Amino acid sequence: MTELLKLAIQKSGRLSQDSTFLLKECGIKVDVGHTSRRLKVRADNFPLEVMCFRDDDIVSYVADSVAHVGIVGYNVVKESGSDVEILESLGFGKCRLSIAVPKSMEYNKISDLNGLKIATSYPNSLRAFLATHNLECSIHEISGSVEIAPSIGLADAICDLVSSGSTLFSNGLREVATVYQSEAVLIISRTRGDNVAIDKRDEIDDSIDVLRFRLNSVLRAQEYRYVILNAPNSQLENITTLLPGAKSPTVVPLAMSDWSAVHTVVREEKFWEVIEELKKLGAQGILVMQIEKMIL
Ligand code: PRP
Ligand code: ZN
Repeated sequence: MTELLKLAIQKSGRLSQDSTFLLKECGIKVDVGHTSRRLKVRADNFPLEVMCFRDDDIVSYVADSVAHVGIVGYNVVKESGSDVEILESLGFGKCRLSIAVPKSMEYNKISDLNGLKIATSYPNSLRAFLATHNLECSIHEISGSVEIAPSIGLADAICDLVSSGSTLFSNGLREVATVYQSEAVLIISRTRGDNVAIDKRDEIDDSIDVLRFRLNSVLRAQEYRYVILNAPNSQLENITTLLPGAKSPTVVPLAMSDWSAVHTVVREEKFWEVIEELKKLGAQGILVMQIEKMIL
């Protein structure tokens, strides 16, 4: 029997749904829904076992090779200081660790933070940030509801995760400095399971390679859009330069003479800019579609 790859994901919280959705996109069927009580779930069609843990525990279980790989926020990895390696950034769970002060406080520059008492659940990340900026603050560590600390007089400022910013807004706080950006990442132990027999380790490594290949195909597809358009043949060269695609665009003649259809891909972030250029070059009937998987 093939050795199962053990993947740790968040039991419940901001990353758990997106983590299982990503596995589904990778064609891995695993029914983790409603299983916050079940610790382990086997995938139907992949040698994989999903283990559901609290996110703080994921890093230590991966570091200790209880799980081979894990999906967790970069913020958790960074704060724990555990010896794990980041294999992939997964493009979801995007947020940042930031320092925020009450709106009423005067703040102009980073040194205005000097001497403040800052409440946080991220003492290590905050300490490192304060040190790089030569700031001396007192850190008040609390495990939750950090955002209410200033209003109840527990601290002058906070250092917490910000995603939409609505928590800060509804607590009368203003974001003034970013400690780091974060998103979900795939992690592996640095020892890569030295305690596992070599033949089993090869099987595990193979499964990790397959998983990463699929993850990359899904993530790349999310970064691109498929574009089809009609263009006058006189502009084909300009359009091909503008839209080089994965290798080179597909150009097919239309029934109407002097016109062709161009099929290609474009990076999502460049998309609107490119469309403006295409219109100027006389492109018509531009269709843009999402891509499900993209293998180079
Ligand atoms: C984080 C953070 C804020 C909120 C920020 O908490 O501590 O409370 O999210 O998100 P927003 O900018 O979109 O409002 P989380 O939901 O992870 O729960 P926790 O505080 O209980 O850990
Ligand atoms: Zn919170």
